[in-house]
Amino acid sequence: MVCLGNICRSPLAEGILKNKVAPEKVFVDSAGTGGYHIGLKPDSRSIDVAQKYGIDIKDQRCRKFSIADFEEFDMIYVMDKSNYQNIINLAYTEADKQKVQLLLEVLGEGSKEVPDPYHDKADGFEKVFHMIDEACTSIANDLNTQE
Ligand code: 4NP
Repeated sequence: MVCLGNICRSPLAEGILKNKVAPEKVFVDSAGTGGYHIGLKPDSRSIDVAQKYGIDIKDQRCRKFSIADFEEFDMIYVMDKSNYQNIINLAYTEADKQKVQLLLEVLGEGSKEVPDPYHDKADGFEKVFHMIDEACTSIANDLNTQE
């Protein structure tokens, strides 16, 4: 799960998807394309909205996406088109590029983005929680029917 800062959206996506899949079967992680917050906890507003829905993300720590992640992961879900371009620019091979997908595309409604809630003063975190949750339910259903 990838966003820009790895403190707002992708920590939520990591926590939400982890909550829906068996850890011994599916490894879920998150990272940011930017390195501004490396080593820090998620934004308190992400921690709070996750907590509201029974998901604990406070022990996550921000890391920057690495090209080694193309080897490590089967799928790389990005929150917006800017993240998509940043990750595609790091890909060496066509196989790497094929792994990268906009998260909300799993809902089959075209190339919608999870908006960056960082500067949002209203209910942005609540909104992105539900967008991410819906997409993660779809991913988890697909994974859980694969053996
Ligand atoms: P995120 O949100 O990409 O969802 O983690 C952001 C957090 C911080 C910044 C940008 C986006 N920032 O520029 O500090």
